[in-house]
Amino acid sequence: MKSLINVNKNDKNEVISRHIYGHFAEHLGRCIYEGVWVGEDSPIPNTRGIRNDVVEALKKLNIPNVRWPGGCFADEYHWKDGIGPRESRPSIVNNNWGKVTENNHFGTHEFLDFCEQLGTEPYICGNVGSGTVQEMQEWVEYITFDGQSPMADLRRKNGREKPWKLKYFGIGNENWGCGGRMRVEYYADLYRRYQTFVRDYSDTPIYKIACGPSEADYHWTEVMMREGVGRTEPYQDNVMTNAWEHYRPEMHGLSLHFYTRNRANYESATEFTEENWFDYMRRTLVMEELIQRHTAIMDKYDPEKNVDLIIDEWGSWFKVEPGTNPGFLYQQNSLRDALIAGINLNIFNNHCDRVHMANIAQLVNVLQSVVLTEGEKMLLTPTYHVFEMYKVHQDAKLLPVSVSTRNYSYGEESLPMLNVSASQDDSGKVHISICNLNPNNSEQVTVNLEGLSELSSATGRLLTAEAMTEHNTFENPNRIEPVTFNELELKENELSLTIPSKSVLVIEIQ
Ligand code: AHR
Repeated sequence: MKSLINVNKNDKNEVISRHIYGHFAEHLGRCIYEGVWVGEDSPIPNTRGIRNDVVEALKKLNIPNVRWPGGCFADEYHWKDGIGPRESRPSIVNNNWGKVTENNHFGTHEFLDFCEQLGTEPYICGNVGSGTVQEMQEWVEYITFDGQSPMADLRRKNGREKPWKLKYFGIGNENWGCGGRMRVEYYADLYRRYQTFVRDYSDTPIYKIACGPSEADYHWTEVMMREGVGRTEPYQDNVMTNAWEHYRPEMHGLSLHFYTRNRANYESATEFTEENWFDYMRRTLVMEELIQRHTAIMDKYDPEKNVDLIIDEWGSWFKVEPGTNPGFLYQQNSLRDALIAGINLNIFNNHCDRVHMANIAQLVNVLQSVVLTEGEKMLLTPTYHVFEMYKVHQDAKLLPVSVSTRNYSYGEESLPMLNVSASQDDSGKVHISICNLNPNNSEQVTVNLEGLSELSSATGRLLTAEAMTEHNTFENPNRIEPVTFNELELKENELSLTIPSKSVLVIEIQ
């Protein structure tokens, strides 16, 4: 039996937002310091303190946005510590991540310079947990106000004449956890208050992102949608008005965090068995159910889909590499991570009617990174290659797929063997990304493209390896990278292929 993939026309014209391919860089372990920032005096080649090799590698991913400064760090971050002459900036303790000294050398100017070097949009997360409303208001004024004001003048004094463009702003992070251990009923009120003072100073209105649920906390979504968005029906022109109803807060996005991990037993990123492989495939697919169920609640309060789901932390979470600081969350990245990335991105693509942005955790040297560094050395992980292969989906029109596939079984349990998404770009090229979750068997596939205009040629790029634990090392950085895949037969809009076991394949058809 073969697997069958039907690629359908999209009558609703849904577009896969490029922001689904976003990233996250926190002041955590060696992500910012060493991974991004080495300082101007470093022997490692840099531009104004930011590593050239990392910027060059990341530019090839067309990164649409980077979330910063956290994470848990965000709700203890006081942005004024990170501006002005570096030698006068205070050193603080990074309480969440190893209690190491944070010298604040990488602050607002350095982050926005990094974004400009990458050609990416900043997504800044403000401090609700331990910061004031005034502090949050002033940060936005400092970054975006062009006129004369205390904050804009301070920015100019610190060397930046013109404001930066800032659209995405988070009102706190994980305020149910490290961001203040709040009940949603309390946070919802704080959200309404803090977001009031996040002002629009430029012609780029701020897109406000509320802290959303952890994993399957559906109550959090329910309350945030009820209190954060308020009523959906139009206001009545009553003589006696209810002020509460008139002052609706703005909530453009609600975040969701979900990591692929086993909290009871964090495992090695590179030494594992098929049992662990299967378990992580299963856990990754939970993302589908979470999006469906949170979306159903959002649909109830917001059937017009005005509020986006922002999955601003996702990815694999394994045991730290032996001998490294447990607070630094440094892990290797294997072929298994490539599958985890490919499946998640397929799921986000397929839900692009509600999912506007997603941010893999994290950019460099932390959790499921695309780049790892060691001194002056740098390597690209299998996850990097998936982002590079999938970038063709950015801002392309979603083509809905229906997949009928065999199961991949292990022990008593089974999972669908293939996971798929497809899109069509402005030039008419169709891209299909297929993950084969089965580490043992290849699979014959027929792709039916009947509803689309005539297509005449197909090529592919494949990421796989001999062993499921394969990964790139600093000694051998190119062990796993994409190769051309030409075993494709296209006849009258029907494509036949055999996808190798444990692989990620992206096909281009035109
Ligand atoms: O990404 C690591 C941490 O995971 C983040 O700081 C926090 O938001 C989440 O719990």
